[in-house]
Amino acid sequence: MQVPPFSLSEQLQGLGAALDQAVLEVLRSGQYIGGATIARFEQDFAEACRVPHAIGCNSGTDALILALRGLGIGPGDEVITASFSFFATAEAISAVGATPVFVDVEESSYLIDLDQLEAAITPATRALLPVHLFGRPVDMERVCAIAERHGLKVVEDCAQATGASWAGRPVGSWGDVGCFSFFPTKNLGAAGDGGAITCRDAELAQAMRELAVHGMPRRYLHTALGYNSRLDAMQAAVLNVKLPHLPRWVERRGAIARHYREHLAALSGVALPELGPDGHSWNQFVLRVPRCAAAQACADSGVSCTPAADSASFGLPEACCRDWLKQQLQDAGVSTIIYYPIPIHRQPAYADLGYGPGSLPVTERLCTEVLSLPIFPELSGEQQQRVVEVLRTVVAQPLIVA
Ligand SMILES: Cc1ncc(COP(=O)(O)O)c(C=O)c1O
Repeated sequence: MQVPPFSLSEQLQGLGAALDQAVLEVLRSGQYIGGATIARFEQDFAEACRVPHAIGCNSGTDALILALRGLGIGPGDEVITASFSFFATAEAISAVGATPVFVDVEESSYLIDLDQLEAAITPATRALLPVHLFGRPVDMERVCAIAERHGLKVVEDCAQATGASWAGRPVGSWGDVGCFSFFPTKNLGAAGDGGAITCRDAELAQAMRELAVHGMPRRYLHTALGYNSRLDAMQAAVLNVKLPHLPRWVERRGAIARHYREHLAALSGVALPELGPDGHSWNQFVLRVPRCAAAQACADSGVSCTPAADSASFGLPEACCRDWLKQQLQDAGVSTIIYYPIPIHRQPAYADLGYGPGSLPVTERLCTEVLSLPIFPELSGEQQQRVVEVLRTVVAQPLIVA
C-alpha cells in the first residue's frame, strides 16, 4: 500500500459536483476579477475568523506583504519572527524593506520562544510576527501583552493554521492583521494560489484592500504604490464550496494526530509532537528523530546511514538518522516530507544578515530531526495503520537511539 504525504483525490471526488458547478458558474458569468463570488467568500471567511474584515489576495506571501505595508512597516524597521518557518515569512519582511530579526523556537512546541522574542526587542522593532507553525497556535494572549507593553504591531502568520484557535478565539483575530494562505496543501486549499488578510480595524482593512489593487481607492486614482494581488473569482468559487467543510476537516486532522500519538507512543527512538492546546489545526504531524547518541552507532550497525549532504554545508548538525528513517519509510511505501531542512537564517539569501552556525541552536537542530507523517482529512484508517506499522517495524531496529 502506498501512503502519500498529501492527497486531494478523495476530497475532489466528494466535492466534485459542487466544485464543477461553482467553477462553471464563474466561467460562464464572465466575471473573473472582483464581484459577488469574492465578496461572499470574504464575508464568510471574516465570519469564520470572527473579525469584521477579510480581504482576499493572491497568496499567503502577499497577505504578509500587504499586512506589513498596511501597518506602515518599511526600511529601518525590525520585525521579530521565527526562522523555523517557510521562507515566505521572512521574505515578506524583506520585501517591504524591513529587517527580519530571528529568534529561536521551543523544542517542545516548535513555536517561537516568547521569552527570547521579548528579549530581542530593540528601539527599531515595529512588529512581532508569530507563526502558527504546523497549525499549532502560538500563545496569542502573551504575544499581544508583549506587543502592548512595547507599543508594537502584531502580524499573525496563519498560513498553516486556518481553522485553528487560541483560547477559543480563531487565529487571525488576535493580532492587528492575520495572514492566511490557500495554497492547495493548506487546511483550506484553493485550486491554485490564494490568500487572505483578516483584521478588526476598518481603516487598516481599506488601506490593505487598496494596496492589493495598485494602491487604487477608486478607478485610476493611485494614492500609493501597491501590488496586483487579488484573489480571483475562480479561486473564491472553490473556496466557497470548501469553507463550510473546514471545521470537520480540522476535527479529522486532530483525530488522525491523536491516533498517531496513541499508536506510536511506545516508540523510544522518535519524539512525537505534543498534542498542544485545544485549537491546534494539525496542518502537519511533525515528529523528531534525534541524532544517534553516538554517531558511531550508524557505522556499527552496518546500515547505510550517512549525514545528509546538505547539512554540513549549511553549518547544521548531521541529519543522518532522520534521513535514514525517511528512506526506510519511503522504501515501504510511506512518503514523508521534511518541513524544513534548512532554517531561514542559514539560507544563502540571508547570508548578509550574519547569523552563523549555532546562532539559533534549537531551530538548527530541529531542521536535522523533523519528519512529517502523512496527514490530511481523507487519510483512511487503513493508511494510518500502515504508517504506524511501518514506523514500528523500522524504528524497532537498533539503529535509532534517542
Ligand atoms: C508559514 C507560512 N507562511 C507563509 C506562506 C506563504 O503562503 P503562500 O504559499 O500562499 O504564498 C506559507 C506557505 O507555505 C507558510 O507555510
